[in-house]
Amino acid sequence: MDFFRFASADIGLIGLAVMGQNLILNMNDNGYTVACFNRTVSKVDHFLENEAKGTKVVGAHSIQEFCAMLKRPRKIVLLVKAGPAVDALIAEIIPYLEKGDIIIDGGNSHFPDSDRRMAELEAKGFLFVGSGVSGGEEGARYGPSLMPGGSKDAWPEIKEIFQAIAAKSDGEPCCDWVGTGGAGHYVKMIHNGIEYGDMQLIAEAYAFMEHGLGMNYDEMSQTLAEWNKGVLDSFLIEITRDVLAFKDTDGKPIVPKILDCAGQKGTGKWTAISALDFGQPVTLIGEAVFARCLSALKNEREKASLKLGGPKPNFEGDRKQFLQDLEQALYASKIVSYTQGYMLLREASKAFNYDLNFASIALMWRGGCIIRSVFLKDITNAYRKNKELDSLLLDDFFAKAITKAQPGWRRVVSQGALWGIAQPATSAALSFFDGYRTAKGSASLIQGLRDYFGAHTFKVMPGQENDVFKDKEDIHVNWTGRGGSVSASTYIA
Ligand code: 6PG
Repeated sequence: MDFFRFASADIGLIGLAVMGQNLILNMNDNGYTVACFNRTVSKVDHFLENEAKGTKVVGAHSIQEFCAMLKRPRKIVLLVKAGPAVDALIAEIIPYLEKGDIIIDGGNSHFPDSDRRMAELEAKGFLFVGSGVSGGEEGARYGPSLMPGGSKDAWPEIKEIFQAIAAKSDGEPCCDWVGTGGAGHYVKMIHNGIEYGDMQLIAEAYAFMEHGLGMNYDEMSQTLAEWNKGVLDSFLIEITRDVLAFKDTDGKPIVPKILDCAGQKGTGKWTAISALDFGQPVTLIGEAVFARCLSALKNEREKASLKLGGPKPNFEGDRKQFLQDLEQALYASKIVSYTQGYMLLREASKAFNYDLNFASIALMWRGGCIIRSVFLKDITNAYRKNKELDSLLLDDFFAKAITKAQPGWRRVVSQGALWGIAQPATSAALSFFDGYRTAKGSASLIQGLRDYFGAHTFKVMPGQENDVFKDKEDIHVNWTGRGGSVSASTYIA
């Protein structure tokens, strides 16, 4: 059969789960002819006869037929489970590709896999794009945030389609070229890490409202509705408002019936691992991941709750004032979380030569994705003003905002400690903030201890050199009079 006669599709997509279907319909709405394929082939027919009925979408019953339907250079989007399934699928597609064809992985792949896939495909003469896709079902259907990276030559070929189907913020598409190799998936990973952090902060505010202030679910939902009109205006606050208000069939709120063990698929964990690898203090996301781990220890927590006592919250103050403080605590912690996320982006950009554009990343996250918020506009502005900005906290807008939020934030963290309410993310954010704004910290003592027990050496503060220290970079002191003068070598494992 001469398949090439039918090469009429602008782009193809493999993987007809809900995200894949919605992305296809979105591309169709934007005027593109999309070819589709799915491993369970009956899904293709079902999709064409139902959701895609009356559209220009065309379906294939084999990978060969699918590849033949595509205009060249072929653009093939894979929306399958991250991991070995992506490699297996690529291996199946390759025999039907020609030089210059483009494979686009739109799953939540781990960035080193995308680095490797780009190298492998480029060596064979093909192009690879690893693209973050965020926004869930709704986003995929009506405008996701897209974070494509990989083979640079692929960008001019896919730019028009990607920017057409992406969400828009103030008329600008929430999609731009991120960088080489796994850059797109790296940025999506950070997005997800921040998503973990945002949700953990919201969950901590919920714990304060429920256990500290004794609020009912409708009151909590109304509070979230109020917050959504201010600095916290965002998708996650908006859906928290709705989730808290949602009633089960018996008319009671559904949230307290949901088992308190949070799941995770790994992108938050990868972010925390990357932070450790780069030695960047991304404490809030780390705490958010660990909080999910702690939540999973349900049996142990139940046992501990019977054995380990603590204070019982007893609120007697001004509730309105406390809720304002809580809003400020959430806002300030969020500023810290994004500051930390951007610290990691900065390091990855340098280490992997991603050459990331931080303003454009904030723009990509401004609409369509799960962490979309008004707040991201302020981040875009900060990096547009100064693309070399060392830290978001050093931007005038954020420095002022966090200074204003400080008193309420501190009242919340101290009240949480007195009430015995776990607030790992909110308190870690405050500790980071206090550590970050401290010019002379407590690590001098750690260095002294390291040198005492292991001759690990230390450096001296400028201006503190004496005759012994003079001209020496790494100093070892004979602390006890018993040790020798031989020091350990310095290295970082
Ligand atoms: C998105 C989401 C999406 C997914 C998360 C969930 O941007 O649309 O981030 O990618 O919902 O990966 O992650 P967990 O299952 O690990 O919470």
